[in-house]
Amino acid sequence: MQDDFETVLTAAQKRVLATLNATLADRLSAMGPEESGLYSYYVRKLEHDALFSQCDLQALEILRMRTGQFGRVWEIGPGVGQLSIMLALDGHQVVAVESESRRAAALLALLDALEKIDGSARDRIAVVQGSFPEALDALDPVERDAVVCLGCTFTAVESKYSAFAAALARFGLGVIDFSCLFTWAPDRAEWRRRARDFASAHGVETTLTTEFFIPEANRGGELFVMTPSES
Ligand SMILES: C[S@@+](CC[C@H](N)C(=O)[O-])C[C@H]1O[C@@H](n2cnc3c(N)ncnc32)[C@H](O)[C@@H]1O
Repeated sequence: MQDDFETVLTAAQKRVLATLNATLADRLSAMGPEESGLYSYYVRKLEHDALFSQCDLQALEILRMRTGQFGRVWEIGPGVGQLSIMLALDGHQVVAVESESRRAAALLALLDALEKIDGSARDRIAVVQGSFPEALDALDPVERDAVVCLGCTFTAVESKYSAFAAALARFGLGVIDFSCLFTWAPDRAEWRRRARDFASAHGVETTLTTEFFIPEANRGGELFVMTPSES
């Protein structure tokens, strides 16, 4: 699978990327370092010309191969929303659920920039500023939707982790980075154990699709696709 933005992004997406990079750089320099980690995380990405990590690009390709198969594609923890924006440019209806207010505000600013280039793509993205899974209506049917969950580390009580994982498992397809789900783990065996445990706890299948490396963070990971169990 190709995983370089030059080959994965379309010409239209590359034009939008240039605007996103510039908009985000302006916003970060106006903001300056702050305690939430937003500034340092994205400054490092921009310095490496890597707003898109390999796993973002791989997730984009996995979903592009399935365009039209889902009602919506949800991204949980989109940060400033670079992947959600590319998903919308690929034609998906996107729901971006971001719990942290500064990241959600930056995402909305990037969407304003997108609006000026492609208003239809902007209209395909709904932003929910809230915490998953509480932000997901328990009765909202998501069996025909896909979910993407990349780099979603956070510290919480065990019941929050269980509810989060159970909600992910309701979707018709998931693209999940188990190396970072809740806590970061350096060990490949641990990523695979997490994927297996997730599958058996929720009666779904988790299939390893591809591995990735994030140079600016000096860490690797693997993407798994979650699908409902066939039995
Ligand atoms: C390390 S960042 C990754 C951002 C983006 N996915 C990326 O890879 O660049 C994790 C993001 O998940 C968000 N997040 C953590 N827990 C969340 C939750 N329960 N619901 C929604 N967003 C959450 C954080 O605020 C943060 O923006």
